[in-house]
Amino acid sequence: MTFSIRTRLTLWYVSLLTVSLVVFGLSFFYVLSRVYMVRTDSQIHSVAGLTAHAIVRPPGELLLPPNFDILLERFFGIRTRDYYIQVLNPEGEIVGRSSTLEGFELPVSREVYAKALKGETVYETVKPFGIHPVRVVSVPVVVKERGLVAVVQVGASLEVMEEIFHYMAYIFGFGIVASIGIASCVGWFLARKALRPVDEITRLARRISAESLNERIDIKGPEDEIGRLATTLNEMIARLERSFKQIKQFTGDASHELKTPLTIMKGEIEVALRGDPSRNELKEVLLSVLEEIDRMSYIVRNLLTLARADVEREIASKVTVRFDKILGERFEQFRKLAVNKGVELDILRNTPLTVAADPVKLGQVIYNLIDNAIKYTRPGGKVEICLEQDNGSAILKVKDTGVGIAKEDLPYVFDRFYRVDKARTREQGGVGLGLSICKEIVESFGGTIDVESEPGKGSVFTVRIPLAVDDGTEGDHGSPP
Ligand SMILES: Nc1ncnc2c1ncn2[C@@H]1O[C@H](COP(=O)(O)OP(=O)(O)OP(=O)(O)O)[C@@H](O)[C@H]1O
Ligand SMILES: [Mg+2]
Repeated sequence: MTFSIRTRLTLWYVSLLTVSLVVFGLSFFYVLSRVYMVRTDSQIHSVAGLTAHAIVRPPGELLLPPNFDILLERFFGIRTRDYYIQVLNPEGEIVGRSSTLEGFELPVSREVYAKALKGETVYETVKPFGIHPVRVVSVPVVVKERGLVAVVQVGASLEVMEEIFHYMAYIFGFGIVASIGIASCVGWFLARKALRPVDEITRLARRISAESLNERIDIKGPEDEIGRLATTLNEMIARLERSFKQIKQFTGDASHELKTPLTIMKGEIEVALRGDPSRNELKEVLLSVLEEIDRMSYIVRNLLTLARADVEREIASKVTVRFDKILGERFEQFRKLAVNKGVELDILRNTPLTVAADPVKLGQVIYNLIDNAIKYTRPGGKVEICLEQDNGSAILKVKDTGVGIAKEDLPYVFDRFYRVDKARTREQGGVGLGLSICKEIVESFGGTIDVESEPGKGSVFTVRIPLAVDDGTEGDHGSPP
C-alpha cells in the first residue's frame, strides 16, 4: 500500500511525537520514583537509628515497654505515627511492635533477616497488608560488649507515592493521547498547506500538452524548493517548446524542399507528354529531370547526414587526423571551380595540426565552407583560407570578399534550410543545409563554428576544434562529399 506524501508526513510527525512523549513520561516516572525512594529510605533509616538509640540501655539491655512508640514520640520527638516499627531479638523473634502495626507484623524475607544478623543494613519493599507496598529497612543493633542485641525494622507506607503515580499515569496517558490527536490534525493541516503548491503544479503540468506548450506553470511565491521546482519545469517546457517548433519547422521545410523538384519534374513531364516533342526536346526534359533528381538526392543525403549526426552525436567515431592534410586535399578540389568562376582562391597558412575527428566529416565541413565562399563571391573576388593554432585549438578561417550576410540573418545561417536570399540560392542549387551540417559535425568534435560578416564586403567563417594529443593513429582522410 502506498500512502500519499501528506499521510506519510503526518504519520512521521505523529510517530515521532508519540515516541518523544512516551520516552519523556517514562523518564519522568523513573526519576520521580528514584527521588521518592531515596528520600523514604533516608527517613526510615534515621527513624531506625533513633529508635535503636532509645531502646538499648548500656551495657546492652533492651528497654521495650508496651506502646514504646508513644514514649519515643513523647520523649524523643520521633514521629512514630507515620511509621511501622518492629524490634527482633537476635533469635529472630519479634519482641516489640509499634501500635501502628495493630497486631500485624512486617513480613521481612529470610535473606534480609540473615543479612541483618550479619550486621548489614538492608532495604526491602514488602506488601504486609495486601494493597499498598511498604518500604522497610532492617538495621542491626550491635553493642560492643554483647554483639548483636536486636534488629530494628522501620517501615513506611508507599501509598502516597502509589497514589501520586496512579493519578500522574492517568494525566500523562490522557495528555499523550490528546497531544497525538491534536498533532495528527495540525500535522495533516500543515502537510496539506505545505504541499498545496505541489498539487497546483501537478494540475497545471497535466494541462500542458504538445498543443499548449506555450503555457507555463504560474506559481507565485518565494524562490524556495517549490518555486525552484516550478522554474525548472517551466525551463523544461520551454526547451520542449523550442524542440517541437524546430521539428515542425524542419519537417515543413524538408517536405517543401522535396516537393519543389517533384512539382517541377511533374510539370515538365506533363508538358512533354501533351505535345509531340522532338528527340532534342525530350533530351532537354530528361536533363532537367535529372538535375532535379540530383537536387533531391543531395537534399536526402544531407538530411540523412543530419539525422545521423543527431543520433551519433554522443558516439562520434573520432581518430587522430591531420587537419592540414585534409584541408590541402579539399583545397585542391576547388582550385578548378574557383578559376572557372574567376574567384581567387588562396591558402595563406596551413599549419600541421592534429585533431580528434572523423576525417570524412571534417572534410565535409571544409568542403561546405569553401563551397559557400566561392558560391557567394562574385567573379573577381577573393577567398582566403588559413589554418593555425591558438590556445590548444586548431583554428580554420575561411574568408571571402563575397556578398556578405545581413546582421539580422547572421543568427540563423546555421539553422536547417535557412537561406538568406531564397530565389538566388535556389538558382545556384543551395538548399540551406550546408552550414547546419557543419555546425552539427564541429560540435560533435567538441568544437565551435562562428561567422562574422558585413554585407557587400564579405564573410569570415571560423571553425575551432580542440587539438588532439598525437598517438600516431592517423585516420583515413576520406573522399569528397
Ligand atoms: N560565405 C558566405 N557568404 C555569404 N552568404 C553566405 C555564405 N555562406 C553561407 N551564406 C548564407 O547562408 C545560407 C546558408 O548556408 P548553407 O551553406 O547552410 O546553405 P546553402 O549554401 O544555401 O545550401 P547548401 O549548402 O545546402 O547547398 C546561404 O543560403 C547563404 O545565404
Ligand atoms: Mg552551402
